[in-house]
Amino acid sequence: MDRILAERLFVQFSQLVYQQCGIRLHEGKKALLQARLNKRLRATGISSYEDYYHHITSGENPPEMVHFLDSISTNLTYFFRESQHFEFLENIALPGILDRKSKRGENRLRFWSAGCSTGEEPYGLAMSILSHLDDPRKWDLRILATDISTRVLDVACRGVYAADKVKKIPPQLRHGYFIRRGNRNGEEEYEVATNLKQIISFRRLNLNDNYPFKGPFDCIFCRNVMIYFDKKTQETLVNRLASYLTQGGYLFVGHSESLTGLSHPLTYVKPAVYQRGY
Ligand SMILES: C[S@@+](CC[C@H](N)C(=O)[O-])C[C@H]1O[C@@H](n2cnc3c(N)ncnc32)[C@H](O)[C@@H]1O
Repeated sequence: MDRILAERLFVQFSQLVYQQCGIRLHEGKKALLQARLNKRLRATGISSYEDYYHHITSGENPPEMVHFLDSISTNLTYFFRESQHFEFLENIALPGILDRKSKRGENRLRFWSAGCSTGEEPYGLAMSILSHLDDPRKWDLRILATDISTRVLDVACRGVYAADKVKKIPPQLRHGYFIRRGNRNGEEEYEVATNLKQIISFRRLNLNDNYPFKGPFDCIFCRNVMIYFDKKTQETLVNRLASYLTQGGYLFVGHSESLTGLSHPLTYVKPAVYQRGY
């Protein structure tokens, strides 16, 4: 028999999701929440939404809270999404950063993909950067890739993608940074090469919690994540991200996520690209 999610419980779950990860579930998301909850009830053997709510909020089973939040987040991503960002990175941002560092005798390059989903964004960043360094061995390049969802992070760490996911990657990058192979069902798959995997650290992080690292980062990609947050949460997050940038560092947000109306210290560079002052 289909269960009905009472309005009171919908409000409780929505408030919980908002407190935990800043995502607002509006009334229109009730069917989605209910579908995701049904999956968690089946997985845990808990028989009612009310009992499930008490189960995750009582603290008796912290991993289940993570599974619940995993089931709520939307993870759509693909290689070189919003390609203008990668063009800007390769042609403007990176040459400027490399030039400044070289003049100062520094070789530390740090990038952060905040809300990395299944890994296409940080692997794309790694390919873009590595293929534009004259001598990669000269540089201490690290990419931090974080997400709230352990489910997507597992996929990202494995770094194995179906053929249709990699087909839009420029052939010279695909040949240089992926190993083609077949899986057990005889389907073609592509695994990210070890030299790319080695420069990326995947970690679970809720962007609205404390950050267990200091940075600073030359570029932060936080794209298509804030779209789910309300203005107050967005403003707090943008200010925190800004404080994790190097002087002259860049913040990239999704093209549908304008920072207009938010108070922050960054300078607008071009659509969805902002820079910290020197
Ligand atoms: C739509 S995907 C975007 C992926 C990638 N940045 C892109 O633009 O293609 C949004 C990601 O943000 C993550 N996310 C949502 N809320 C989060 C939070 N509070 N902290 C960290 N990650 C979050 C989701 O799990 C999801 O993987």
